[in-house]
Parts: sequence; structure tokens; C-alpha cells
Amino acid sequence: MNIFDNLICPICSLPLTIKDRSLKCRGNHSFDIAASGYVNLLKPGKKNNAHAGDSKDMINARTSFFTSGAYSAICNKICALANELKPRLVIDAGCGEGYYTENIAKSDTSRLVIGVDMSKFGCEHGAKSAKRQGINNVIYTVGSIFELPVNDESTDLIVNMFAPVAGEEFRRTLKQGGHFIVASAGIDHLDGLKAVIYDSVYKNEEKILNYEGFELLRCDNLKYTAKISGNEAIKNLFTMTPYYHRTSLEDKKKLEGVDEITTTVEVNFSIYRKI
Ligand SMILES: C[S@@+](CC[C@H](N)C(=O)[O-])C[C@H]1O[C@@H](n2cnc3c(N)ncnc32)[C@H](O)[C@@H]1O
Ligand SMILES: [Zn+2]
Repeated sequence: MNIFDNLICPICSLPLTIKDRSLKCRGNHSFDIAASGYVNLLKPGKKNNAHAGDSKDMINARTSFFTSGAYSAICNKICALANELKPRLVIDAGCGEGYYTENIAKSDTSRLVIGVDMSKFGCEHGAKSAKRQGINNVIYTVGSIFELPVNDESTDLIVNMFAPVAGEEFRRTLKQGGHFIVASAGIDHLDGLKAVIYDSVYKNEEKILNYEGFELLRCDNLKYTAKISGNEAIKNLFTMTPYYHRTSLEDKKKLEGVDEITTTVEVNFSIYRKI
């Protein structure tokens, strides 16, 4: 299997093949592979401009935060779950800047991994990082989680890390017996960060849902305490969260001068199988 084998044209859904650094379908639609290595397969007419998905600042904040190692246990967990299921083809739906994507690819180089995200900056960042490290079993495509640019019943595993879930689309693209894993915030996730900003810290609402055509096999809870040092790292973490968009300027100012927080990191990994 070639990394491009299961990609389909976002306009007519015919298979894509690679020719002269472009992906082309039999309907004469053509998609250039950028110098960095990602390809834009977002359906025309969708928000396929530089502002769709996470912004450059958000992607950079996430990259910088990940280097602190505070989320490496989350990364190890998703890699271990993927290794348990032994998939040949994996999609990271809403891959962001590719932190989990590239580690899933690195943890078994015989598998192929497709990162899909609406953010051009995320895909560009992931592709550059893969190139730098010589990771050849991963590709990044700008695209929608709700219209994944891959063939019907082609995929063994979809991972969905803190991104929108598209049950129907996952059912279309997964093989019979294929799996998807949703990583979502647990009830106490980032309580220490919220305590700095909000007067009273509410617990997160846990969202472990059922999806038609899937059985929920199990839900693994990962919970630990992390110390986040440095104002920049704390602000970067905040930028990665949904609170970034919802918090008033006044509350955001409370992060100024905060140089260390201790917080719970709590993530639920829900594992579904297509039935
Ligand atoms: C909270 S971020 C998580 C990113 C990455 N999985 C991580 O955990 O670092 C959510 C990501 O989903 C992407 N996203 C949101 N809606 C999307 C959609 N409909 N299709 C594709 N990507 C989407 C955003 O651009 C963003 O990169
Ligand atoms: Zn086409």
C-alpha cells in the first residue's frame, strides 16, 4: 500500500494518483502537493482559505507547549492503544499540528497515517516536521473531518484527539470491524489552569457518547498531576483550550505574571468498533 493509495478527489470522489507532485483523478481534477509535503483536499466552496481551522498562533502555541512534555503521557497512551489494535491505515481526524499523528506513525513504521485538518497551518507544520525527521509513513491533508478525503471502508483506525467527532463519516471510511478512538477532556482536566482564571471552577461535563453503527468497547481514563513552569508555557496551554475563545479579556489578564501552576490532566479515551 502506498501513502496516496486511499485518497479520493474531494470534488468527484474518484481515486487520486500521484503524477508530477500533484494528485489527480480521472475526472481531471488536480491537487498540488506543497513544497512542505501536505496537500489541500478540502472540497471547494468550503472554508478553504488560510483562516479555516486553527490559526498559525494556535498551532505555534500547541507546538511550543508539547515540547514541555506535559502531554507526553497522553501521546504514549494513544500510541499504545493504536499498537494494541495493529492498524495498517490510520486517520488522525483533526490532527492539528501533528504531535499525536507523527508519534502514531513513528511507533510502527509499517503502518500508514493520514492527518486531516481544516487548518492549512497545522498540516504545513506536520508535513515539515515529518520531512525534517524523515518520517515517510505519514501524510497531511487539509480537509474536513465531516468529508474525509479517503475511500469507503479503507481505514482500520480513526483517532480523534480533542476535535469534532463525525460518527457517520467514520462509519463510511472505516472497514468492518475497524475502530475509532475519541480522546476527550475528563471532569477534572486542567482544573489548576481554570482556578487561575475563574472565581469558581466547575467540573467538565464528560461526553462519552454512543454512535450509530458502533459499539463502545471501553473507555480508559488517564489522570495525572502536571506542573507547568513558565508564563509562556501556561499561556500556550491556555491558547490550546476551548476557554481561549470563551474567556473575557479581563479574565485572560489573570494569567499575567503566573509562572507556575499545578494541574490535573485528565483524558478519557473511548474506543468504538464498527459493527
Ligand atoms: C483542539 S484542536 C486539537 C488538535 C490535535 N488533535 C491536538 O490534540 O493537538 C482541534 C483541531 O480540529 C480542527 N478542526 C475543527 N473542526 C474541523 C473540521 N470540521 N474538519 C477538520 N478539522 C477541524 C482544528 O483546526 C484544530 O486543529
Ligand atoms: Zn475528481
